[in-house]
Amino acid sequence: MARITSSVYTSHVPAIGAAMDLGKTQEPYWQPLFQGYEFSRQWMKDNKPDVIILVFNDHATAFDLDCIPTFAIGTGAEYQPADEGWGPRPVPKVYGHPELASHIAQSVIQQDFDLTIVNKMDVDHGLTVPLSLMCGEQDPQTGSWPCPVIPFAVNVVQYPVPSGQRCFNLGRAIRKAVESFDEDLNVQIWGTGGMSHQLQGARAGLINKEWDNRFLDLLIENPSGLAQIPHIEYVREAGSEGIELVMWLIARGAMSDVDGPALLPKVAHRFYHVPASNTAVGHLILENR
Ligand code: DHB
Ligand code: FE
Repeated sequence: MARITSSVYTSHVPAIGAAMDLGKTQEPYWQPLFQGYEFSRQWMKDNKPDVIILVFNDHATAFDLDCIPTFAIGTGAEYQPADEGWGPRPVPKVYGHPELASHIAQSVIQQDFDLTIVNKMDVDHGLTVPLSLMCGEQDPQTGSWPCPVIPFAVNVVQYPVPSGQRCFNLGRAIRKAVESFDEDLNVQIWGTGGMSHQLQGARAGLINKEWDNRFLDLLIENPSGLAQIPHIEYVREAGSEGIELVMWLIARGAMSDVDGPALLPKVAHRFYHVPASNTAVGHLILENR
């Protein structure tokens, strides 16, 4: 049977990808940020998964106002890095896992979550920046990501967005789906986006360190309590783009032992850094016991 062994949480700021692509990671502004991911890159080598389910949001790249799926699972064989205005990032294409993805779609839809099935989409910084942060620089032609990736897109751009509770419950459904897949696979699930940031309007530049760190504490210790926070609190406290954080609850819901202090996952790594561009960067690695 396939199993979810661990979950990874990280921000996806596009300027982080640009810093890597342009060779700026050792500049004073970026060095402390990348230092926080040194542990994670070694951890990825030591804990190489067979498949990553990567929960992310598309930023009006593959989807736009013509079509707004709340939850969309990529069942395709491969995905190209998107051109977001500066040309596609020089990173390898992403190979999918159509068999596991189709199985998850079947199981999760039968568990009453409506997923949009996507066979063709380009993936933007929401997906490629977390891969770059966790896996380091890869040659676009000769390099490759460590394993197949199932892109799982969530609408947090155009209201109405899904609640934290719905995301948490969806994570539980994904865990059930993975555990009913016949093949022995070591699966990681990643929740990406956040933490506090607002890119627009009178409050542009908003950062809320206290709220972010409370979010990290609760994500580890009391995710079912965290799931009850309404979307308006994310927007008030973490800024208009801070709502990206609801995606972390999908990954957390997919971990086993979600409730009960004796059953909490192991915190392999925790990191928080302000600023990267306009955003507070948060990062966690949680391992199932
Ligand atoms: C920034 C952060 C994001 O999450 C994003 O999607 C785009 C830009 C930023 O801080 O610049
Ligand atoms: Fe974003």
